[in-house]
Amino acid sequence: MRHLLDTRTLAREDAMRILDIAEDMADTQSREVKKLPTLRGKTVVNLFFEDSTRTRISFEAAAKRLSADVINFAAKGSSVSKGESLKDTAQTLEAIGADAVVVRHPASGAPRTLATSGWISAGVVNAGDGTHEHPTQGLLDAYTIRKRRFGADSRGRDLGGVRVVIVGDVLHSRVARSNVWLLSTLGAEVTLVTPPTLIPQDVTGWPARVLYDLDAALAEEPHAVMMLRIQLERMHAAFFPSEREYTRRWGLDAARLRRLPDDTIVMHPGPMNRGLEISSDAADSARSTVLEQVTNGVSVRMAALYLLLAGERPEPDKAGASAA
Ligand code: CP
Repeated sequence: MRHLLDTRTLAREDAMRILDIAEDMADTQSREVKKLPTLRGKTVVNLFFEDSTRTRISFEAAAKRLSADVINFAAKGSSVSKGESLKDTAQTLEAIGADAVVVRHPASGAPRTLATSGWISAGVVNAGDGTHEHPTQGLLDAYTIRKRRFGADSRGRDLGGVRVVIVGDVLHSRVARSNVWLLSTLGAEVTLVTPPTLIPQDVTGWPARVLYDLDAALAEEPHAVMMLRIQLERMHAAFFPSEREYTRRWGLDAARLRRLPDDTIVMHPGPMNRGLEISSDAADSARSTVLEQVTNGVSVRMAALYLLLAGERPEPDKAGASAA
């Protein structure tokens, strides 16, 4: 794999390979093998033009657990504030020795530009671009659903027959887009539930059903309910009902939680607006996978970096045996 830019064009075989390698990576970590020597001598640059907690720290942990060197770059406090372009910034980082660049950017398409412009030769991973995609979030969500549905060793299994409901601000959500494409590639049935003002115009071309009534969607007993963050920072006032109205109609609270089957999981990519799209009862309940998603993100990102920088799938035993 040369780059990881989206899930829309990610082949089923490549998606399955990432999920299966992520399981291998999780296995080595559960055996207290904290560090593998696999990417020794490689340098991963985290190039973040937007704020992040989970994604940036998780990529850093993933690269370090594979023994890569990590350079963290935040646009705030850099020469970007003096007007330096994406091209010059990226070329500067490659001159320092970047083998892979993990990029988060407010402009949809910035990672693809970096990967295809010829400005740099490093592999590029999209860590979230505008409202376009967040492919490693989609992958860690698929991984979490697969583990919860199929148990400890779910290698080789897709998500055929799994019902996933994605709720909220679909219009601004790169997480929703990456999940819709990936989950449907893996065979899941995806339903989007959203206020009519927060649905993208091109949704008719997506492999997902759209409903506006959350209670009707939950009555179908989905296996996973994924709540999206209301992106108030990207919101136009005309798109958004009052917060109270939103919570009443599209929020996941204790009453709705009680009506779900016991094995339905509750997901959120974080950061959460507690009390708006999700109540604390739901976020902190036993069926919530919010923190599990964060943990799984490290294994999935290890797998992605591994495929970008080292190529083929490692033998699990070999990976463990040669651990540093
Ligand atoms: N889920 C997610 O992308 O979180 P961060 O913005 O904290 O990276």
